[in-house]
Amino acid sequence: MTIQPLEPGRAEMEGMARDAIALLADFIEDRSKAPAVDLDDAGRMVPELLRPPSEEPGELAALLDVFHRAAEQAVDTAGPGYLAYIPGGGLFTAALAEMLARGVNRFTGLSGLAPALVAMEEGVLRWLCGQFGLPEAGAGLVTTGGSIATLSAVVAARHDRLGEDFADGTLYVTAHTHHCVAKAARIAGFPAARVRTVPATPEFRMDVAAAARLIAEDRAAGLRPFLLVGTAGTTNTGTVDPLGELAELARREGLWFHVDAAYGGFFQLTARGRAAFAGIEAADSLVLDPHKGMFLPYGTGVLLVRDRATLRGAHSGEAAYLQDLGELAGLPDYADLGPELTREFRGLRLWLPLHLHGVAVFREALDEKLDLAERAYRELASDPLLEVPLKPDLSAVVFRLPGGDRDNQRLLERINATKRVFLSSTRIDGRHTLRLCVLSHRTHADHVAEAVDIIRAAARGALSA
Ligand SMILES: Cc1ncc(COP(=O)(O)O)c(C=O)c1O
Repeated sequence: MTIQPLEPGRAEMEGMARDAIALLADFIEDRSKAPAVDLDDAGRMVPELLRPPSEEPGELAALLDVFHRAAEQAVDTAGPGYLAYIPGGGLFTAALAEMLARGVNRFTGLSGLAPALVAMEEGVLRWLCGQFGLPEAGAGLVTTGGSIATLSAVVAARHDRLGEDFADGTLYVTAHTHHCVAKAARIAGFPAARVRTVPATPEFRMDVAAAARLIAEDRAAGLRPFLLVGTAGTTNTGTVDPLGELAELARREGLWFHVDAAYGGFFQLTARGRAAFAGIEAADSLVLDPHKGMFLPYGTGVLLVRDRATLRGAHSGEAAYLQDLGELAGLPDYADLGPELTREFRGLRLWLPLHLHGVAVFREALDEKLDLAERAYRELASDPLLEVPLKPDLSAVVFRLPGGDRDNQRLLERINATKRVFLSSTRIDGRHTLRLCVLSHRTHADHVAEAVDIIRAAARGALSA
């Protein structure tokens, strides 16, 4: 029997999968010893890889080898030494789930086409709604990331609070709010001046009294305040806004209360996170990034809303060619809750790791990250050469040399040149400041201890250079 190349036979499928899984196992095993960044060959490989595909078939082994070498030419965002930005994860079991979900290729935009799979995704979303204390009417959507989830939240808030005529609507953020909120507002049709920056306290939290004043001023000027954005863990410093007070202000003023928990959200599974996020249960919408705090592969965000009708009102559409498909009782049509019609079955990459490993393991891993950040904070703060401006609320620690920006740029270059860890920087109070963020499931005590040693040695080196 001849094998159709686009539909390989069983033995061939099993062989291909074995080769791919062996590659992945090698890759994951290598993370502990791989450099934190390796771009040495990228300049040579990039022009080669920009070539178009050939008319002739290739060899799987050779193609997998190209992929493997290309994947190694990178900042190792899946490695234990990646402490920059917000660290990524990459659970093997999520990769396995992804292969299965892609292989069965079920349509999960409309529940009637694959109700049991939609129920698996919905079960995870309802569990998340419960974790955040949202009411029965709450709902969720698995998106491709925090930015897209934020866009849907802003559109839902706009639709619910302003209607179709929204040019005079204003929304409230701080200088520490993730830029995806301003970007979402722009895409949603708001000019930049409608995004109002509320002053932050000296601890970088939104100043609630200042927010109230700004809202009152805007109202007096004939504008329509409609959306207040709090953050459960800012990207810069991991700081948590006073969510309870912001929720109360939003309620009093009739504003939609959105919480960006893309970085911090999964700490809600821990006792410390839950205490830090008190008030989050009053959110009208909140964004989580399982590709951060649940250690899942990139491309996995979540939007939760207090009232499904608000999300539906802003996103549902009708078409004659969809007339044969009715919403299944008790299950949502995800196409009505977000911008996509066709979507992959994203739920399995959450469902399988959660059901296979159990929730407790995630809670323990997140508690470990909080402990590690606390330890890094203590050790860096006790170094007389370093300034540590802030005690971390979550798992991001910021520090700098007391000198100027150039000294701190040099410090970062020295740290990253070791290729054992990879850190990033930001500006805080107008000053160049380095960040160490612990979030990968692969980062443990020995990695953080090594990072602290590297930072202290580099600080000495940067000053004596
Ligand atoms: C607090 C916060 N909000 C939103 C985002 C955007 O999420 P994504 O990169 O998944 O689009 C990030 C990303 O780092 C973040 O840290």
